[in-house]
Amino acid sequence: MRILLQNLTKRYPNRNRRIKEEVVAVDSFNYEIPDGKLIGLLGPSGCGKSTMLNMICGLEKPTEGRILFGDEDVTAVPAENRGVGMVFQSYALYPHLTVRQNITFPLGNLKGEARLSKEEMDKKAEEAAALVQIDMLMDRRPGELSGGQQQRVAIARALVKRPRVLLLDEPLSNLDARLRLQTREEIRRIQRETGITTVFVTHDQEEAMSISDEIVVMQAGVIQQTGRPQDVYDDPANLFVAKFLGTPPVNVFDGAVRDGMLWIGQDAVLPVKGLTDRPVIVGIRPEGFILQEDGPLHCSLRAVEVMGRDTSVVSVHGACQAPQLRSIISAESRVDTSRAEVRFAVKPAKTLLFDCETQVRLRAELG
Ligand SMILES: Nc1ncnc2c1ncn2[C@@H]1O[C@H](COP(=O)(O)OP(=O)(O)OP(=O)(O)O)[C@@H](O)[C@H]1O
Ligand SMILES: [Mg+2]
Repeated sequence: MRILLQNLTKRYPNRNRRIKEEVVAVDSFNYEIPDGKLIGLLGPSGCGKSTMLNMICGLEKPTEGRILFGDEDVTAVPAENRGVGMVFQSYALYPHLTVRQNITFPLGNLKGEARLSKEEMDKKAEEAAALVQIDMLMDRRPGELSGGQQQRVAIARALVKRPRVLLLDEPLSNLDARLRLQTREEIRRIQRETGITTVFVTHDQEEAMSISDEIVVMQAGVIQQTGRPQDVYDDPANLFVAKFLGTPPVNVFDGAVRDGMLWIGQDAVLPVKGLTDRPVIVGIRPEGFILQEDGPLHCSLRAVEVMGRDTSVVSVHGACQAPQLRSIISAESRVDTSRAEVRFAVKPAKTLLFDCETQVRLRAELG
């Protein structure tokens, strides 16, 4: 099911009655969620992710704009008739019901011809439970399950009606690191197996990047960029997106374009074409540094951390906006830790330039 979000806007009256100004939770959102894909909706706390999901499922009414499922305008269709399965930020299982009863719960509300017999409900519950691999736990209560198992019950409950659209609001936030990893792969598998169009909300960029076909990066209710995770990472539209994606994060420097060179402080790091002389903000990804004896970027060495596959070099540069910069180099390269200085060359493809005022990405030919 393709979902079209047209000019979608949600404004809330301010909770402080004395303030007239409204809260714009989602601002003129235009996006097409492709059929059968998994979309990661990503952004910092308060940027409007839950509001967005609540509008898609029908729990919140948009202030402006339209929502289409396929060709059908569902903007005014009540939540229960939209065919949407939702897993909430807190997954809200009924503690006094068994897993089976929790999963069949949404089927109990079916009316008229859609009504199911107990056997039919149980069969559907078994199918949904098998999909998330909890079919052996059907007679337990939520209190007797681990966090990850409870999570899967919530997903099975969302799947039991065979929804046209599956919405997951931070479904992994209550799990420990290992279980998070496992469960997110599980979600990916279930989504592939069922082909249900899915929107997955998270503020964890790594999580979104690892399982999404496409990501949508939001800030303050506004879409910053959409696209395939790798494309958005390689080609961010602005400084916010560049900083939001990637661990360790991009290193940010005050720089300048002068006489055909890109300068970081006193260091001329790369030739640059297509930009007139001007100050710029320079972002260099951690993997964009090459350890080089006579490299142009002069840094003071602080620490070398060997992390199995690669080595992380922590250093200091006067033009860096942060107290320290972090570069990731291959474990084979040896850093001479007896020296106070470490020098790098930088990779043009990992170097990003931004306008100092607007923070919008500047297109230039580097290297
Ligand atoms: N019922 C409401 N009344 C007034 N303001 C609201 C209401 N619900 C949400 N907001 C505001 O709208 C903005 C977006 O909230 P939302 O819950 O969508 O954020 P979020 O991206 O899901 O954040 P989180 O990652 O913390 O869950 C916030 O500024 C929030 O305070
Ligand atoms: Mg939220």
